[in-house]
Amino acid sequence: MAEWQKSDWRNKPRVQMPDYTDANALEAVEAKLASYPPLVFAGEARSLKTKLGAASRGEAFLLQGGDCAESFSQFSADGIRDTFKVMLQMAMVLTFGAKVPVVKVGRMAGQFAKPRSAPTETVDGVELPSYRGDIINELDFNSGARIPDPSKMLQAYTQAAATLNLLRAFSTGGYADVHQVHAWTLGFTEGEKAAKYREMANSISDALDFMSAAGVNSNLSHALHTVDFYTSHESLLLEYEEALTRLDSTSGKWLAGSGHMLWIGDRTRQPDGAHVEFLRGVQNPIGLKCGPTTTAEDLKVLMQKLNPENEDGRLTLIARFGAGTVGDHLPRLIKAVKEEGANVLWTCDAMHGNTIKSATGYKTRPFESVLREVQEFFAVHKAEGTIPGGVHFEMTGQDVTECTGGVRDVKDEDLSDRYHTACDPRLNASQSLELAFLVAEELSALRNSAPEAQAV
Ligand code: PEP
Ligand code: CO
Repeated sequence: MAEWQKSDWRNKPRVQMPDYTDANALEAVEAKLASYPPLVFAGEARSLKTKLGAASRGEAFLLQGGDCAESFSQFSADGIRDTFKVMLQMAMVLTFGAKVPVVKVGRMAGQFAKPRSAPTETVDGVELPSYRGDIINELDFNSGARIPDPSKMLQAYTQAAATLNLLRAFSTGGYADVHQVHAWTLGFTEGEKAAKYREMANSISDALDFMSAAGVNSNLSHALHTVDFYTSHESLLLEYEEALTRLDSTSGKWLAGSGHMLWIGDRTRQPDGAHVEFLRGVQNPIGLKCGPTTTAEDLKVLMQKLNPENEDGRLTLIARFGAGTVGDHLPRLIKAVKEEGANVLWTCDAMHGNTIKSATGYKTRPFESVLREVQEFFAVHKAEGTIPGGVHFEMTGQDVTECTGGVRDVKDEDLSDRYHTACDPRLNASQSLELAFLVAEELSALRNSAPEAQAV
């Protein structure tokens, strides 16, 4: 890798990136960012990689979630706290179901740049460039707002640094109170599913009571009161990424300092493109979105480029096919991975293949489809004898109405009540927890059907 330079991506074809009009302003911003401290350190990225390696072997499970797009205007301590809290609650439910450690990775502290399905947007006959995330331009529909402005990278850096600071404080400050498990299911009042979830919540709280009676809590207080929480985002805006990339003196390898884990989106995974070129050279754990158009041939080339040493935990394949089509695509990609003998972690993004336009005109995702895609993902891995190692969601701790369905049934006509996302629709707190209970069920079923378990 000695020949790789962090600016090499500039010689490759790029897609989904803005054309900045003021080259001097852009250069000044890049120089400033390059002089700032990185947000994460190499040792953290390495420890996350080790944990993702464990998840790829079924010894841990990855929970990755957060906003579709972080926003400057909705930036608040409460927002960060609530998303963090719901992720910890989900992790608790999953730990119980899977009886394995849950690796917690937020789509936070850097998830600002968005790929778009069309370069322009037309409203009432007026055509403007698309919104590309707060790090690039503005959501407002007027021509000034849509001009890419490089100085937004500095604001994104500041917001990412403040977000990470709060996450680090929450992670070590004993914020997550696992004894609240009963309160989490209070809204789940009806139906067979709710009864099952309450049963699981009872078991979790029994386990906690038992530990406390046995005096275990105090001895394990460090383990129960601190968590490892990592950050991730799509590595889309390469000027920002390059400016925060540093040489790690311990390993002599490059580190993208903007977040612990970076992923390549479904629209920027061209094997000879700029995004793959940039990410192949940094030592962070890397995610690669795999969609219906990912071919086995491309996947083989990408695995070779992104993980030439076949390192454990380096590459996470994030399957995002859409409910009803997982069986059409996942088996052929699993076959490609097997043929290469590649070490990968398979996770399921059950959001991006399930976006529809509701009757009321909102972009939404039916919760039923999200659940179904997760179930199909587990079923295919079971049939293939491979490991479903994690899940990836767009969610928020706020009580939004962006995805339809769930136990507190959000209907089409409710979407306008609290539709706050800057980009794609997110699961709200209650839908996120319901989903965690479902995944926990899938994981415990998997465990119970494992050969060692049957032999007992
Ligand atoms: C995303 O994760 O927000 C996203 C745009 O995903 P994808 O690249 O899979 O469409
Ligand atoms: Co999204």
